Amino acid sequence: MRLKDKAAIITGAGLGMGREASILFAQEGAKVVVFDMNAEAGQETAKLVEAAGGKALFVQGDVSKEAEVKTAIDEGVKTFGALHILYSNAGVLWKDRDKSVIDTTEENWDLVQAINLKGPFFLTKHGIPELKKAGGGSIILVGSISALAGFTLAQDSYTCAKGAMISLCKSLAIQFAADQIRCNVIHPGFIDTPLQAPYLNDDKRKAIANEIPIKRLGTARDIANAALFLASDESSWMTGAEMIVDGGFMAM
Ligand SMILES: NC(=O)c1ccc[n+]([C@@H]2O[C@H](COP(=O)([O-])OP(=O)(O)OC[C@H]3O[C@@H](n4cnc5c(N)ncnc54)[C@H](O)[C@@H]3O)[C@@H](O)[C@H]2O)c1
Repeated sequence: MRLKDKAAIITGAGLGMGREASILFAQEGAKVVVFDMNAEAGQETAKLVEAAGGKALFVQGDVSKEAEVKTAIDEGVKTFGALHILYSNAGVLWKDRDKSVIDTTEENWDLVQAINLKGPFFLTKHGIPELKKAGGGSIILVGSISALAGFTLAQDSYTCAKGAMISLCKSLAIQFAADQIRCNVIHPGFIDTPLQAPYLNDDKRKAIANEIPIKRLGTARDIANAALFLASDESSWMTGAEMIVDGGFMAM
């Protein structure tokens, strides 16, 4: 029960890492606001949380819409009494539309930024005052190994938005440390989730696994485990930090 008496909001909790974290956080005692634009997926996550013996509130919304993020936070506080964990997980990877700067339209650039960068802005803007009221808390941002290295297959808007998570993390960590609010960023490597599924087949999975020192793709649980540590008081002296969870890929 590493998150006993805590309430979390997880964006993009309908599928992938967000769903896995919702279930794991609930198993560890947290109440979870499951926020996702996909109602079917979000409702299913909420059911899985309840089936695991936890408490979930599903709120449908788009992280790029400020009013919808604020509503989710308000409803979470109303339902669970407080919020202690902001897990900014929702993100999109659109390899067909987000390419090199020389091939990306302004519209597609802006769409990716709206979800992957403005989403965390809205979540922290409206969530931090609630963390303050609760006496402190933990913010988890999701970057990517693509924020740490240039990718040959460019997705420049995605990469820039993920790179910005590093700066936002440090800024929030410094600003709110005195309020007992910590902020850290996780950089996942190649994780086998619905986000990557359109770009993978068995041969590609094998080829990618072969490039990773630990010789397998990551799972949603690999990232949820890291997030659990950052959400819990076990990481209480850790803020402004980057956690790379990638099977050793960036160490090469
Ligand atoms: N999978 C990877 O290999 C990988 C690697 C590095 C970083 N990441 C990052 O990890 C995070 C989670 O990725 P995942 O692989 O679990 O993704 P996923 O696509 O499997 O799940 C993402 C969830 O976010 C939701 N979502 C998408 N846009 C949204 C929006 N505008 N508002 C609300 N919800 C929205 C989707 O409906 C979905 O339920 C993302 O930020 C992603 O960029 C993923």
